[in-house]
Amino acid sequence: MNQSKNGMWVSAAVCATVVVALTAPLLAFSDNDDQALISKANALFKPLPATDALENNELTPRRVALGKALFYETRVSSDGRLGCVTCHNPAYHGADALALSVGIHGKVLPRNAPTVFNTSLLVAQHYGGNRATVEEQAFKALLSPVAYGNTTNEQVEKKLAQLGYASLFKEAYPADAKPVSVENWSRAIGAFERTLLTPAPFDRFLKGDAQALSKSAKLGLEKFISTGCVGCHNGVTVGGQTYQKFGITQDYWQVTGSTPKDAFKGYDKGRFHDTKNEADAFMFKVPQLRNVAVTAPYFHDGSVETLPQAVKVMAQLQLGKQLSDEDVSQIVSFLEALTGDIPADFAKVPRLPAAPH
Ligand code: HEC
Ligand code: HEC
Repeated sequence: MNQSKNGMWVSAAVCATVVVALTAPLLAFSDNDDQALISKANALFKPLPATDALENNELTPRRVALGKALFYETRVSSDGRLGCVTCHNPAYHGADALALSVGIHGKVLPRNAPTVFNTSLLVAQHYGGNRATVEEQAFKALLSPVAYGNTTNEQVEKKLAQLGYASLFKEAYPADAKPVSVENWSRAIGAFERTLLTPAPFDRFLKGDAQALSKSAKLGLEKFISTGCVGCHNGVTVGGQTYQKFGITQDYWQVTGSTPKDAFKGYDKGRFHDTKNEADAFMFKVPQLRNVAVTAPYFHDGSVETLPQAVKVMAQLQLGKQLSDEDVSQIVSFLEALTGDIPADFAKVPRLPAAPH
C-alpha cells in the first residue's frame, strides 16, 4: 500500500519535472504579449451577444418553443420528409456533414449547407446573400421547389392547422387576428434561430481570459491576422459581413476540384446568379468561421474535405501565399477555438403536435 503510494508520488514528481522542463522554454507568451494580443484581437473581432432579438418579435419562450417545433417539423414539406433539422442537425453542429444537401424527393442541391448557428448576425443569408434575414430565409424555403416544395402559402397554413398547431400559434402570437400564418411560421423559426448563438473559448479570450486559448491557438491567431485572413474574416462572426471574390489569384475550381452544376449552367458564380450583375461574378458571401472546425466539408459546394486543406486553399486562392504545415496547424488550432457549445436545448427533440383524427 505504502509502496504503491510512494510509487505514485515518485511518478507524479517525475511527470511534473518533465512537464516543466518541456513547457518552460516554449512559453513564448508573456503576460504582456497576451494583453497585447487580446487588445489587437478586440480591434478586429467581437464577442457574441447573449441573444440577437428583433425589435418587433420579442424572443418569448412560447415563440422560441414554437420555432423549435417547426424547425423539427417535416410534415409541412411536400413529401412529408424534410424539415430544417434534416440539413441543419444538432449532431453535425447545425449543418448536415454532406458535400451537397439533399432536398425533397432526394434531389441533390447545388450547394453545401452552412451551420444555422449565429446566422442571424450575418450581413445576409445564403452564399449569394439573396435572403436578407433568417425570417425571410425561412419564409422563402416554404415555397422553394427544392426545399419544402409547397405551391401556395394558403396550402401551408391549412396543413399547419390540420397538424394541430393552431393553439401553439395563438399562444405565441396572441395579439394577431390570424395567428396561423406563414409570416408567423417564419417569425417563430427566426425567434428560435436567434437563440442559437454559440459562445466559444475565443469569446472568453476576447473578454480578457488569456488562458482560454492554447499557445498554438494564440500563434494561429497571430498568423490569421498577419497572413491577411482577417481582411475578409473579421467581426463578431469571423466572416459573414461582406461579399468577396472566391479565386483572386486563379479560378477556384482549378484548386478546389469543383465541378460545373446544372443549376448554374456551369461553375457556381455566387452572387451573380442572384443579381445578374457581371461585377458580382464569383462574389460569395464570406462565410463565418465560428464552428468551422466541426462543419466539414468546406466551401459552397463541399469540394474540400478537411480544414487544413481548406486553410491552404484559402491562402493560395485569396492571398497568393503558400503556408507551411506548421502555419496551417496553428491557424487550425485558432479555428478550433471558435467551436462553441451546442445550445443546450437544441439537441433535445421536441414533442410535435399530433394531428387530430
Ligand atoms: C435540403 C436541405 C436543407 C433544408 C431542409 C433547409 N436548409 Fe437551410 N440551407 C441549406 C443549404 C444548401 C443552404 C445554402 C444555400 C445557399 O447558400 O445558396 C442553406 C442555408 C441556410 C441559411 C443561411 C446560412 C448562411 O450562412 O448564409 C439558414 C439561416 C438556413 N439555411 C436555415 C434553414 C431553415 C430555418 C430551414 C427550415 C425552414 C432550412 N434551412 C431548411 C440546406 C437546407
Ligand atoms: C479576400 C477575402 C478572403 C481572404 C483574404 C480569406 N478568405 Fe476565407 N473565404 C472567403 C470566401 C469568399 C469564402 C467562401 C468561398 C466559397 O465557398 O465559395 C471563404 C471560405 C473560407 C473557409 C471555408 C468555410 C466553410 O464553412 O466552408 C475557410 C476555412 C476560410 N475561408 C479560412 C480562411 C483563412 C484561414 C484565410 C487566410 C489564410 C482566409 N480564409 C482568407 C474569403 C476570404
